[in-house]
Amino acid sequence: MLMGNHTIQINENGHLFFAGMDTVMLAEKYGTPAYIYDVSIIRNNCRAFINAFKKQQVAFQVAYASKAFSTIAMMQVAKQEGMSIDVVSEAELYTALQANFPVERIHMHGNNKSESELEMAIENHIGCIVIDNFHEITLLECLLEKHDCQMDVLIRVTPGIESKTHAYIMTGNEDSKFGFSLKNGQAERALLQLQHHERIKLKGLHCHIGSQIFEADRFILAAEVLYGYLQSWYEKHGFIAEVLNLGGGFGIRYTSDDHPIPIPVYVEEIVKALKQYWQEAAFPFPEIWIEPGRSIVGEAGITLYTVGAMKDIPDIRKYVAVDGGMADNIRPALYGAEYECIVANNADQNDREVVSIAGKCCESGDMLMKDISLPTLKPGDVLAVLSTGAYGYSMASHYNRFANPPVVFIENGVDQLVVRRETYQDVVRNDLIYRSINRDD
Ligand code: LLP
Repeated sequence: MLMGNHTIQINENGHLFFAGMDTVMLAEKYGTPAYIYDVSIIRNNCRAFINAFKKQQVAFQVAYASKAFSTIAMMQVAKQEGMSIDVVSEAELYTALQANFPVERIHMHGNNKSESELEMAIENHIGCIVIDNFHEITLLECLLEKHDCQMDVLIRVTPGIESKTHAYIMTGNEDSKFGFSLKNGQAERALLQLQHHERIKLKGLHCHIGSQIFEADRFILAAEVLYGYLQSWYEKHGFIAEVLNLGGGFGIRYTSDDHPIPIPVYVEEIVKALKQYWQEAAFPFPEIWIEPGRSIVGEAGITLYTVGAMKDIPDIRKYVAVDGGMADNIRPALYGAEYECIVANNADQNDREVVSIAGKCCESGDMLMKDISLPTLKPGDVLAVLSTGAYGYSMASHYNRFANPPVVFIENGVDQLVVRRETYQDVVRNDLIYRSINRDD
């Protein structure tokens, strides 16, 4: 059975196989909840982007947006696949450095980069900083002076495009906390401040219109807007962008209602449109960068849970609770995100009932899936939720002091723990005993 990118099989015992391995066995071995990744899917997605660019014969960088899933093991795979990466914090940068990720292929983002984040980027000679605001320019100027060095940068701009996605993950519109507005002239002011800067080397523009976008035309529209400004800035200021970064946001399949276009088609359509704009340009074609996150790892990951308590409210709803929930996957509670799942130990059973899968956090909104049709469940069943590879582990919390689940990578029939399960001792490891004055209890 093929579900999206998932190569999912069911064996004669009705067990779900993922990445060629029995998920019931994996649940026993690693416990639940657990994040399981098929590394071959991650690699295939990286290669799909890279090969599509090679086919278009343009200079490019494909930077994996590590916020989608940042672990040392993931950085190792991204490095092996020749990806660049984007990081948004000291700890994401640290994770990349721990994986010996080539520093020249690291790009730093953030709408409020701190002095220490910028300093860490400078000290480690990363490839590029994507400048988000005027305050950051001032900070960067001071720090580059202090370290007596230079830094390549892009200016992040908002092209004023509404993408058809959830408002929380829409970023390219005018009313956004990210980047410089093109429309109101702030981007041009930033350009003039940086164009001939002694230390801040302006390489080009960046925009990111949002996430989980299914049409290439949104990216093309953004590119068209950027091209228009580049044309006028060339005429007015002689500015030539060496790099054009169109961000990430390529949609994936969570449920059968999602129909993303294949990765090579996104790339082909975008590059073709860019080539067309540049046909008339008096300035050279830039290097094209993109920053896919979800489309690299989303469909490569599943989460395994064990079914526990059930509560049937006649004529209303049957709740089936699992041993995880919003602490390991906040997306349903935060965005109303929808998922599909399979009963891993009973994948081919036909008698079905409509149930809602509840998490175990102390919160009514902690529902993973609502009103879905599944084989009749019983306590102890293993549930595999599909397409949880992006923004699951990376957005996990310790709400209710739940320890974070482990991450297991599978490749070539071998399973390997790459993040161990937290213990409750891990959860309290930074807590210090309060010694209140005049009390000794
Ligand atoms: N580049 C920039 C500047 C971004 O802000 C993002 C995502 C990406 C690239 C990668 O976007 P992707 O290809 O993964 O869609 N937590 C939300 C998604 C937030 C995205 C934030 N920025 C979710 O779970 O849907």
